[in-house]
Amino acid sequence: MVQYRINAIFLGPPGAGKGTQAELISKHYSLQHISTGELFRKESESKTAVGVKIRSIMERGELVPDEIVFEVVKKNLFFGENYNGFLLDGFPRNILQAEMLAHFLEQNNEFLSAVINFIVPKEMLVMRLLQRRFCPVCGKNYNLQTLPPKNDNLCDICNVELVKRPDDNIETITTRIEMYYTNTEPLVEYYKSKELLHEVDATGSVEHVFVLLKNLFDNGFYKNKK
Ligand code: AP5
Repeated sequence: MVQYRINAIFLGPPGAGKGTQAELISKHYSLQHISTGELFRKESESKTAVGVKIRSIMERGELVPDEIVFEVVKKNLFFGENYNGFLLDGFPRNILQAEMLAHFLEQNNEFLSAVINFIVPKEMLVMRLLQRRFCPVCGKNYNLQTLPPKNDNLCDICNVELVKRPDDNIETITTRIEMYYTNTEPLVEYYKSKELLHEVDATGSVEHVFVLLKNLFDNGFYKNKK
């Protein structure tokens, strides 16, 4: 069990494997996992004006406005005793969001201890996203090519037909990747200048990437960053 508080960000383009690894790492180290994409997918199911607005933005692959993003993050991020820290997956996505986060942490006497940048080439991202499926009942994630279900297109647990995320079509994927390179990639230099950035080659298998991340965490890479 880790002895230091880990407050980390997983950074990387769509399909880099942030969500997959955030699930595994947050369980392993008892971290609070915040996925803004997941929170927005839930919100977009509601019939509220904000829900409807978010759904159409996500379907186009564009970014949800910063004020909405930040409200959602503030509502969901806790600094309780039950966690060894937090893991942010999909947030921040631009410099303004990063500065909002820094200010919010300072107000709460917290600090960011590491940012991990997932490196994956563009062709691999598109392939992973086109092949992604999930179970509409239990939410388990699959990939027809890299993490296939045991039986053709059926959830291993629920035995129901797997489905695609509505934004996993080639047109929206292209926009999401463009959005990443325009808005989010500048965060790499931003966090490098703060000496918080660590890079991980995320092209290997899920198990292999998990081991690379675990090595980073176990070696206390985040320790003396206050
Ligand atoms: P979000 O849900 O965050 O989507 P994303 O950023 O496009 O990222 P993905 O979930 O597609 O990729 P991932 O890196 O998590 O990959 P995963 O592990 O799933 O956001 C959705 C939308 O919400 C945005 O487009 C935007 O509109 C809005 N939004 C969210 N946050 C926002 C913010 N802060 N500001 C503004 N708007 C915001 O893996 C992908 C696939 O690959 C899976 O099938 C998986 O099984 C497979 N896979 C994973 N790892 C491996 C591996 N190592 N080897 C082989 N296959 C793998």
